[in-house]
Amino acid sequence: MESLKNKTVFITGATSGIGKACAYAFAREGANIIISARRLNLVNEIAQDIKIKFVVNVFAFQLDVSNHNDVNKTINSLPAGFKKIDILINNAGLGRGLNKFYEDNPDGWEEMIDTNVKGLLYVTHAILPQMVERKSGHIINIGSIAGHEAYAKGSVYCATKHAVTAITKSLRMDLIDKNIRVSTIDPGLVETGFSDVRFYGDKEKAKSVYKGYSPLSADDIADAVVFVASRKQHVNIAQMIVFPTAQAAATMVHKEDL
Ligand SMILES: NC(=O)c1ccc[n+]([C@@H]2O[C@H](COP(=O)([O-])OP(=O)(O)OC[C@H]3O[C@@H](n4cnc5c(N)ncnc54)[C@H](OP(=O)(O)O)[C@@H]3O)[C@@H](O)[C@H]2O)c1
Repeated sequence: MESLKNKTVFITGATSGIGKACAYAFAREGANIIISARRLNLVNEIAQDIKIKFVVNVFAFQLDVSNHNDVNKTINSLPAGFKKIDILINNAGLGRGLNKFYEDNPDGWEEMIDTNVKGLLYVTHAILPQMVERKSGHIINIGSIAGHEAYAKGSVYCATKHAVTAITKSLRMDLIDKNIRVSTIDPGLVETGFSDVRFYGDKEKAKSVYKGYSPLSADDIADAVVFVASRKQHVNIAQMIVFPTAQAAATMVHKEDL
């Protein structure tokens, strides 16, 4: 394992679920943390809590990754001490709706494409030049099993995560001579705020996704992200699919009686 102490890690979507768990997991390893998301109050609370619990530097700010101007502006004006980013975790993302395509609401498509694809591109494009110049860095994308398999009622979410798979692969090729690692971690079912967002706040529907088996927790995925980030410099874990034990494919989950 290579130490993450004093590395600077930039995490998008750090107010909930996997992104939040990553912020704590990297701080625990002694890394300095840059966290962002749209909900400023939450991102500030998390930053304060991390500063109390760990002896690391933390910078928190509001960022909607789908706003290209804001992405460039905020990343270009990071304070001294946070400018050199060693690890970028492109985590911000969401699903909206689980409906047959012909019954689906196109507003959700816009949100998913703008966040999961364009947001990831904007943030990566803003941060990569400094990594290329230094010839060091690691980009870790949070993809999904939906980036490997399409499933019914998920056409656009699956399309966005297939895009993440493709972008990750191409980036790795573009960066082959730059000593920069590019990885995806592709979870199955993780119990986070994801389903609540996907079902527009319908708590019962969201809860039912995780009933009858043990889903992954956000901390399980944060463990995987820390593992990938802390391999020796010459080791790049290109792709890691992580399922709960009761899941074998995107829509194949063994549930005990509810
Ligand atoms: N949960 C799963 O089963 C699962 C499985 C596979 C992959 N994933 C992927 O894991 C990633 C994290 O999701 P999660 O499960 O941790 O869900 P979550 O608990 O809902 O967290 C999503 C995070 O993304 C942020 N976010 C959403 N839109 C954003 C935007 N436009 N700009 C900046 N931040 C934004 C949210 O913060 P704000 O609302 O404060 O902006 C929140 O912090 C996503 O990319 C998701 O597709 C999840």
